[in-house]
Amino acid sequence: MERALYGPAGFYRRELPGDHFATSAQTPAFAEAVARLADETHERLGRPEAFAVVDVGAGGGDLLAHLAGLLDERFRLVAVELRPRPEDLPERIEWRRDPPQEVEGLLIACELLDNVPCDVAVVDHDGALRYEEVDIEGATRLGDRLEAADEAWLAEWWPIAEPGERAEIGRPREAVWRNLANRLVRGSALAVDYGHVKTNRPEGGTMTGFKDGRCTDPVPDGTCDLTAHVAVDAIGSDCLERQREALLELGVRATRPPLEQAYKDPLAYATALANAGAAARLTDESGLGAHWWLRTDR
Ligand SMILES: C[S@@+](CC[C@H](N)C(=O)[O-])C[C@H]1O[C@@H](n2cnc3c(N)ncnc32)[C@H](O)[C@@H]1O
Repeated sequence: MERALYGPAGFYRRELPGDHFATSAQTPAFAEAVARLADETHERLGRPEAFAVVDVGAGGGDLLAHLAGLLDERFRLVAVELRPRPEDLPERIEWRRDPPQEVEGLLIACELLDNVPCDVAVVDHDGALRYEEVDIEGATRLGDRLEAADEAWLAEWWPIAEPGERAEIGRPREAVWRNLANRLVRGSALAVDYGHVKTNRPEGGTMTGFKDGRCTDPVPDGTCDLTAHVAVDAIGSDCLERQREALLELGVRATRPPLEQAYKDPLAYATALANAGAAARLTDESGLGAHWWLRTDR
């Protein structure tokens, strides 16, 4: 998974996320809500001079590009991304490969954790937990017995026991998030992602491929995205809620403008209608609205 996504011929070395799938962070209405959250956090910290909005796994930089039009120069805008800097990005956005050692401000990671490589565990015919191995064409077979730490993680967070049952081991995602959240000196760290909780783990796991807007088999040959939903309750955040609730709290509303406006001011009407459509997609309970917001405040 690591090589297929981030190795020399890896998917993310070549491909722009936005060319293959739509995420919340690509939407201007989402950036407006994040700008509000950044402003609230800035206020909570007493409006410090060095306040940064750090987007980890920034993809094509869409979120920060939108934020550049919403937040004034008091807000430092920083992208952390393995991909090269897009040419048309506003100059004030910093672009770096590694996260800053210390962050005062808002650190955000949208759909990063589901792309953090993880192992898949399978219960074999004797009831033992084994790693699932996969070749470059996607064929799978049973591998070694699980290491003790991975067994312990499954026992605590995603118990499986019946032969053939599968689960994704979330430890690498926790490690990535701990590493990022530990850099927060003051402010908030927010991860936004697909996920599940212990009372509702998906049977068989969620490892999926994605390419050109469609689900594919998760073949680790670098031609498709590989993603597995996040065991969000295991990550360890102060606040865990669905995107729908979080965005409603931040004032996102999918209210259609009154029809009369279409006659009085057609342009304003069209804009308001487009905004309502975007808000509806972001808060849709069976779509992006079901994503999880994992937040830690300091
Ligand atoms: C699914 S895309 C999400 C892009 C964007 N945040 C969005 O929501 O549209 C995940 C991005 O994370 C980047 N990424 C993965 N691991 C990373 C790491 N350790 N440091 C920086 N970027 C990383 C990938 O290159 C990819 O662009």
